[in-house]
Amino acid sequence: MTNPDLAEHLRWAESLGVTGFSRDPKWRQRAAETGEAPVERSVTAVPPTTDNRLPVTLDAIREDLGDCARCKLHALGRKQIVFGSGNPNADLMFVGEAPGADEDEQGVPFIGRAGQLLTKIIEAIGLTRDDVYIANVIKCRPPGNRNPEPDEIAECEPFLVRQIETVKPKVIVALGTFAAHALLRTDAPISKLRGTFHEYHGAKLLPTFHPAYLLRSPERKRDVWDDMKKVRAVLTGEA
Ligand code: URA
Repeated sequence: MTNPDLAEHLRWAESLGVTGFSRDPKWRQRAAETGEAPVERSVTAVPPTTDNRLPVTLDAIREDLGDCARCKLHALGRKQIVFGSGNPNADLMFVGEAPGADEDEQGVPFIGRAGQLLTKIIEAIGLTRDDVYIANVIKCRPPGNRNPEPDEIAECEPFLVRQIETVKPKVIVALGTFAAHALLRTDAPISKLRGTFHEYHGAKLLPTFHPAYLLRSPERKRDVWDDMKKVRAVLTGEA
């Protein structure tokens, strides 16, 4: 990292409420491992595909999705399906709501303003976007960024569940009200849900505020930082 990059990184960390940096060798060792050594996963532990012979891969799920027309969003102006991106063996997965205009344009989740903030949140715990897996509950942009509707969720969510079961993250961070409600089948306010782990398909799921909300309410960044420290502790085996 160059000096100006480092200075910007420190300013960002300060805005999150970070008051110090960990010298814990366990965390450093993990960063080195995730940066350099591929994580080994047993293919035999992966559930079988529909033909019962091949291991499930994200590519196979993407292929099943095809040029999806299962819900009305395909005819309401979506430019492309935004499937997901990142490390297919990630220990940490983020789940958002649905693609916005930038994501619809480029086919990659979380690359607009909210996405840039998410990138900083990921970096604040010593990881990069390439270390984690990022997806949304809904894979097509709702027109005008309206909230996804129940029939759209019903068609799309099974593909997210398959992605989760294939990546097998240790921790899932549900970003914002919509993702938390859809995954946890609750309508409790995100302010009550955030910061607590829930069991979800073999992973620990932690809801937190959506980065788009943080852009409007930066005073809540400290809460997200508190949540991310809990995530980091689980990933390093300290919690
Ligand atoms: N907001 C989301 O929930 N998902 C994205 O991919 C982008 C913005």
